[in-house]
Amino acid sequence: MLVSAKEMLTKAKEGHYAVGQFNINNLEWTKAILLTAQELNSPVILGVSEGAGKYMCGYKTIVGMVNGMIEGLGITVPVALHLDHGSYEGALACIEAGFSSVMFDGSHYPIEENIAKTKELVKITGEKGISLEAEVGAIGGEEDGVVGTGECADPDECKMIADLGVTMLAAGIGNIHGKYPENWAGLSFETLDAIQQKTVDMPLVLHGGTGIPAEMIKKAISLGVSKINVNTECQLAFADATRKYIEAGKDLSGKGFDPRKLLAPGFEAIKATVKEKMELFGSVNKA
Ligand code: 13P
Repeated sequence: MLVSAKEMLTKAKEGHYAVGQFNINNLEWTKAILLTAQELNSPVILGVSEGAGKYMCGYKTIVGMVNGMIEGLGITVPVALHLDHGSYEGALACIEAGFSSVMFDGSHYPIEENIAKTKELVKITGEKGISLEAEVGAIGGEEDGVVGTGECADPDECKMIADLGVTMLAAGIGNIHGKYPENWAGLSFETLDAIQQKTVDMPLVLHGGTGIPAEMIKKAISLGVSKINVNTECQLAFADATRKYIEAGKDLSGKGFDPRKLLAPGFEAIKATVKEKMELFGSVNKA
């Protein structure tokens, strides 16, 4: 059964570790992440962007697939199915379809509008026991056509949004989606520290988990980050393993063209990436 992310993130904040959000794209992705979480006895959040939602034929298809897999694979660790960077309408559609968690990304609106829309969603999600992530300060880079510049959030605005009663808060601290450029300045721990001091118990979310050095991840967790999003790194691992399989000519030998064989190395590569992240985030055996 899908659960809200509230309990797992409250525990993570108290226990000084982070729960990974891994974005899904298809059946192999979802299966790899769920099986790894189960093997490591770790809670997990499956992230779905609006673009990935369309790709997978709509939110209802995803809810059906994930619920079916939880039953079929005997998954017993806590799993939250979460809309990533949702619009207001997207959040409503996911709540309707059976997601257990949604993000409303109002960071591109003036703060008053972000507050007004987030407030409405606090009420709707609260009535249904669904967790809600809000965002202040756009996360840089490009994700599904949504481009941000990697701002640092204003700690006072973070407090205003946190006080509305959201479950978790994503705040820009110089992080960006996708690969980090050579000249990236790194995370702003000064900003993170100021945000945590204003928002106290609020689980903070670090987007753009791909390529952030391990030491920075650990420091971010020590300053209140309880959820870390990873997407691109699984995609790179999958593409790399699949390329190697093809380049080695394995699809041309025997039944190597069978999709269940062709996609197996990529599937294993996602599993290895998720395992590495769960170990780094400290969520192993925290289910
Ligand atoms: P990356 O693709 O950089 O790992 O970011 C993922 C993310 O933040 C999803 O919201």
